[in-house]
Amino acid sequence: MDPQIMDGLDFPFCDEVVKYEKLAKIGQGTFGEVFKAKHRKNKQIVALKKVLMENEKEGFPITALREIRILQLLKHENVVNLNEICRTKANQFNRYKGSIYLVFEFCEHDLAGLLSNHNVKFSLGEIKEVMRQLLNALYYIHCNKVLHRDMKAANILITKNGVLKLADFGLARAFSISKASGSNRYTNRVVTLWYRPPELLLGERNYGPLIDLWGAGCILAEMWTRSPIMQGNTEQHQLTLITHLCGSISTEVWPDVDKLELYSKLELPKGQKRKVKERLKAYVRDQYALDLIDKLLSLDPAQRLDSDAALNHDFFWMDPMPSSLAKMLSTHNMSMFEYLAPPRRRYQQGGAQPPAQQQQQRAVASNDAAFDRVF
Ligand SMILES: Nc1ncnc2c1ncn2[C@@H]1O[C@H](COP(=O)(O)OP(=O)(O)OP(=O)(O)O)[C@@H](O)[C@H]1O
Ligand SMILES: [Mg+2]
Repeated sequence: MDPQIMDGLDFPFCDEVVKYEKLAKIGQGTFGEVFKAKHRKNKQIVALKKVLMENEKEGFPITALREIRILQLLKHENVVNLNEICRTKANQFNRYKGSIYLVFEFCEHDLAGLLSNHNVKFSLGEIKEVMRQLLNALYYIHCNKVLHRDMKAANILITKNGVLKLADFGLARAFSISKASGSNRYTNRVVTLWYRPPELLLGERNYGPLIDLWGAGCILAEMWTRSPIMQGNTEQHQLTLITHLCGSISTEVWPDVDKLELYSKLELPKGQKRKVKERLKAYVRDQYALDLIDKLLSLDPAQRLDSDAALNHDFFWMDPMPSSLAKMLSTHNMSMFEYLAPPRRRYQQGGAQPPAQQQQQRAVASNDAAFDRVF
């Protein structure tokens, strides 16, 4: 666009980002950088997520538009709040390309940061409170016909008062229940590989909310193991790890699986027994937790618990009941984020990588090295 055209324009509803002072970088994602910042006048602390425009040929990135539209729709205690959108002016220093920032309420921690710090110890009641809030968030977004599609510990924020906020709607989309006339054809290249459910790995394109509940099951186990439970290097490897934990994938346990495109094309280990409870019991000492993990990590999405059924599971209704994290968190006086944490996992080759590179394990980039793994 001719820069002159922009000169005379005023954007009364979109302030300039200079009203915030950047304090520190707290995140580096595939789609942008995240900063902690302070409002220069009222001193409010916020998180600024810059929309990366560098690779765009067609103007404002559609992924960011989708994220903004979805965040505007969602208002819930357990979903991160988008306060406003800000901009920078185009000038000669940015080659007449202004930037756009998403301004969020600030949360002191993310779950990946908390889990990577072994001084942070969760009691059983506190683990229940984390999961209760996470499932509440999923219940709410699914009722509003939104799929998150990027469940992982780094996308779960926790305030110093112990309030959980589901974040990162960069891969989210609206969904509809497919009609008899035809099924949905969503992309299955979503969800960070380690949290990706078997139906997506087998090529399903007509999926729904249950894809997010597989991720919730992985995260529940991770509350004890402290690192992701299935760290595959490739899609084939991820399916192999899933089979080793959840048993062989067959029409016996998953009646319609043979209709999925990749079922006959990929090599799936045969004769594996399901060992979810057996293998996790050394970490997870609570039988109700083991049972809930088992039911969330159901291979067949039709048999997987949805968020409502999960919230009704005995795990949440047996002593100790869910209890606030505020007191435990008040004993830690620093923010914990995945980006700032020392590597949670040891790399097999090449030693530790800078945090920025650790962030790239999203759906679109699944070329991870092998990490210190639980299984
Ligand atoms: N509101 C917030 N308060 C505090 N920290 C935040 C907030 N939003 C994001 N972060 C931090 O920044 C990180 C990256 O943010 P986000 O996940 O939204 O970006 P992304 O570019 O989509 O990331 P990725 O590609 O790694 O998934 C988060 O993991 C979290 O640590
Ligand atoms: Mg993220």
